[in-house]
Amino acid sequence: MPDVRKNSVVVCGGAYGDEGKGRIVDQIVSEFAGRQRVIAYRDNGGANAGHTIEFPDGKRVALHQFPSGVFIPDSTVILGKGMVLHPGDLLLELADIKSAKHEKLLADIMIDEMAVLALDTHRAFESILKQWQTGSKGSTGRGIAPAYADVLLRHPLRMRDLKPFNSDSVTSHYKLYKALVKGLGGNLANTEVPTLNGDVIKVGTLREFKKRLKSQMKVLKPYVRSVDGFIEDAWKDKEKNAFVFEKAQAIGLDSRWGVYPDVTASDTTPAGIYSSTSGVVNPDNIELKIGVIKATYMSSVGVRVLPTLIQGELAERIRKDANEYGATTKRPRDIGYLDLVAIKFFAKVGKLTHIAFTHMDITYEDTPLKICVGYKKTSNEVLFKPDQEYLNTVKPVYKNLKPWSQQLVAKAKNYKQLPKEAKDFLKFASDYLGIPVYMITTGPKREQGFVID
Ligand code: IMP
Repeated sequence: MPDVRKNSVVVCGGAYGDEGKGRIVDQIVSEFAGRQRVIAYRDNGGANAGHTIEFPDGKRVALHQFPSGVFIPDSTVILGKGMVLHPGDLLLELADIKSAKHEKLLADIMIDEMAVLALDTHRAFESILKQWQTGSKGSTGRGIAPAYADVLLRHPLRMRDLKPFNSDSVTSHYKLYKALVKGLGGNLANTEVPTLNGDVIKVGTLREFKKRLKSQMKVLKPYVRSVDGFIEDAWKDKEKNAFVFEKAQAIGLDSRWGVYPDVTASDTTPAGIYSSTSGVVNPDNIELKIGVIKATYMSSVGVRVLPTLIQGELAERIRKDANEYGATTKRPRDIGYLDLVAIKFFAKVGKLTHIAFTHMDITYEDTPLKICVGYKKTSNEVLFKPDQEYLNTVKPVYKNLKPWSQQLVAKAKNYKQLPKEAKDFLKFASDYLGIPVYMITTGPKREQGFVID
């Protein structure tokens, strides 16, 4: 058994994203805050992620590249080496974060100087490339995959290249992307790319591109530094420092373990923390590795087809009740029955130690809870494979469980107060997955949910 480092948690999406991770992180962080210094670390993805935090005064802030720990007083927030960051979007996000707290930053922010840049050039390339990709699988348009591809091709621009501003590196980066875009029939300077606040801007000429980047880096520079030594010292002091690793996306979207081809380019499992922290934090030592899952159904965006897809009235009912529409696009998400076969695979490859179930309130007493517990091909039981082509050929095997009362579950303040049917569901899911349930939630507010002792 690996040593366990007290006061350390990683929270990741246990299915295909949009499970409500932020809600779970908020609960965990609030339990540490005041007792320990919270170190909120993010190691993967970039502006492709997003969740909205709502404050008691009604103010809302959409976080994309920053973890939710940024609102914890005296916490330290680290954007790690494994991330792909967009300086312009970081500034927009920082402005929003400050404005929610009377122009104050509550956390100490550090950006790893080795973090990779995902720039307007990458966004432009991605949008032109899409026209050439047969059966294009789509992306969030944030240049995430091209930025990670730069690393594999050994020509990334990293934060350290902009502090101090290395004009030659930026020039050769721009020229490379100009040639790539031109080769695909586009014009880099004229290509329009999205920004976080919904505007669209042109990449611009080399001069314009450099000028913009330079002025953005002027503001960001103080946050950019070497972080490995800080993490090493902080990780050793278990009593003083609580580490909360907030993963972006979900294991079902992982570049190697997710359901191909609708995957993102980063490592969405806890394993990514090892390389992002340059081997300082071994994820096997993290005390709680929690996968967040919607309890009674699943949702999906993009071209993925869930084997447990629900169509018709029930899907519409769940979509409405759980507000399953894209946060930015407002596109209706696909709805499926809970697929424990897929989740068991994601929990295994993510080496998860616990599950957190959100949306326990989405239950209808007139409709049995249908849960996928196996796959069949003809009459043979078959395994899960993270491959859409394969999943299109399997038939789910379902088990029906009794639904519980929405009202009773919403009233429950602890495990004991849960209706029997909800307890039966938690026991069944936990036994099937082979890991315990850490907490459940029944709504977005802090009081709507609890840790199971
Ligand atoms: P990319 O991350 O922009 O490269 O997009 C690759 C795929 O991952 C697309 O199908 C996206 O819709 C999906 N994706 C990326 N981030 C998220 C997320 O936070 N939630 C759900 N899907 C996502």
